[in-house]
Order: sequence, then structure tokens, then C-alpha cells
Amino acid sequence: MFKTIEDRSANTVEILVEGVAHRVPANISVAAAALLCGLGSVRETPVSGAGRLPYCMMGICFDCLMKINGQPNQRACQVMVAADMTVERQLGAAEFEDL
Ligand code: FES
Repeated sequence: MFKTIEDRSANTVEILVEGVAHRVPANISVAAAALLCGLGSVRETPVSGAGRLPYCMMGICFDCLMKINGQPNQRACQVMVAADMTVERQLGAAEFEDL
């Protein structure tokens, strides 16, 4: 569905995605990085547990909610990757104490 546009810059950063280190281009969103890293889903819905992947990539659909650097409910398409960032799938609703 999504295709990577060739990037001639060599700038990359290392991020932890679900506890696994990945080197990704420095100028992409966390949602793009999650797709690039091959995550099968970035979150599971609170009601049915169905897996979701980023859809609109522009902050509208909220299907890309992830836990980024320990903060739940982050729209991954609106956050750019940064060195040593930790990215986790969001499973169901965020716990109240997480907010
Ligand atoms: S992909 Fe739709 S809000 Fe992020």
C-alpha cells in the first residue's frame, strides 16, 4: 500500500520498536517507521482488540495511536523519529495512570 520514496540523505537514527533496535531515516514519522519496520499493527482497539495500522498519515483517523517514549495515545503520524526513541504498540485503552 505504502511505498518508500528514495531518500538520498544518509541521515538515520536508531529507535527501539517493540524492544528491537531499528535504524530508520531521520526525516520520517514514527508511523512511517513502524510500517518500515514491518509491524503488523500499531495498536489494538479497546473494544474488540482488532489490530490497526496507520491509515491517513495526516493526523485525522487516530488509527496510529502508539506509546512513544512511554507516553500512550500519541498519533504516531504526527511525531518525527528521534535517536533512541522507544516505540511500542498500544494495546487497548491507555491506563489512567499512564496519562
Ligand atoms: S494515521 Fe491517521 S491519525 Fe495518524
